[in-house]
Amino acid sequence: MGISKRLFGEMSLPGLDIGAHSIKLVQLKRKGNEITVAKLGQMETPYNAFDGGKITNPEAVAQRIKLLIKKLRIKEKRVFLSLSDQNVITRSIVMPKMTAKELKEAMRWEAEKYITLPIQDAVVDYVKLQDIQSENKEEMKILLVASARNVVNSYIEVLESIKLFPVAIDIEAFSLLRVIRHIEGSSMSEGYDDKIFLLLDLGADSSNLIVIENGQFAFSRNIAIGGNNFTQSIMEREKVSREEAESLKGTPGFLGLGGVQELVDDLLREIRRSIDYYLLYKDNNSHKNIDELWVTGGGIRQNGLLSFLGHDLKLEPKIINLFHKIGLDKRYILSEMNEYVPFINIAGGAALRGWY
Ligand SMILES: Nc1ncnc2c1ncn2[C@@H]1O[C@H](COP(=O)(O)OP(=O)(O)OP(=O)(O)O)[C@@H](O)[C@H]1O
Ligand SMILES: [Mg+2]
Repeated sequence: MGISKRLFGEMSLPGLDIGAHSIKLVQLKRKGNEITVAKLGQMETPYNAFDGGKITNPEAVAQRIKLLIKKLRIKEKRVFLSLSDQNVITRSIVMPKMTAKELKEAMRWEAEKYITLPIQDAVVDYVKLQDIQSENKEEMKILLVASARNVVNSYIEVLESIKLFPVAIDIEAFSLLRVIRHIEGSSMSEGYDDKIFLLLDLGADSSNLIVIENGQFAFSRNIAIGGNNFTQSIMEREKVSREEAESLKGTPGFLGLGGVQELVDDLLREIRRSIDYYLLYKDNNSHKNIDELWVTGGGIRQNGLLSFLGHDLKLEPKIINLFHKIGLDKRYILSEMNEYVPFINIAGGAALRGWY
């Protein structure tokens, strides 16, 4: 490490999370073993500029990101982008043990079996999750990740139009996993060996469910119910404006508002079905229940929702908090930053890329 990095620390690339409701950006700084948040910001996504994980008004989104970059005085042009999991297909597959080079070749053919898109229209990547040692064979578990090429390109074009360059694209599940690993530290791989974590990101367009087992990504599923569905239902059933509906969501009567309970029930049913599916089909039968529930996303601010979920799933929800192990630059006041906690974990996890 050069002398300047030792003295002043090393900046991460900014992590960028473009959500349906807001755009978040986090840049971290590392000095020795200590990581702090150097820059952090969030701005509302222009209304109707984003739908189902797709950018429907590239110009408006680009200008909003530009504004955020300017406000935070970020000079760095390269970013780590986290791509909405609505756009991503993940499949965990088992392959015979082989070299990295052989695997690369094999995955070209394997991908076609699992991806419904014509392969030329998809961006495909993979990571090795773990080696599997059974009685008479050696295998490895691979996670295949794919996204539609035109969707990935639309994100890249938006960024390039304002002279930003995504040097890596993450999936939200991996960004969050990095934050959890950082919070939990080494215990994640040691003491947590047999533990199953359920991560829930309650977003605006949709909610994302991620299962982590043995400190590794195991399964994820996108559920098409998010904060916007609640807002919409309140607007229609309570005959109020969007602004009023948004503010009602933070008040104690939220669960009793028009259509809310039905949506919560639908959300819970999908969560329970995903858990059952995972526990039934997972490839080792060692463990039959979820140990910990971790939550994030603006949706957790909806009044009473979190305790309702926790009660129903019989798990105490823990809020993923980037600031738990990552300090703040002197310019920031921690109590004021608590407002950001549910929102910035994905951007923070993207910024951790390269260090984890
Ligand atoms: N104080 C609050 N009270 C109640 N609800 C809130 C509050 N703040 C934010 N929300 C809700 O959280 C949701 C936005 O959360 P978040 O920023 O995580 O979504 P997003 O990342 O933009 O969307 P997505 O991940 O679906 O693309 C909105 O539905 C919003 O109504
Ligand atoms: Mg989000």
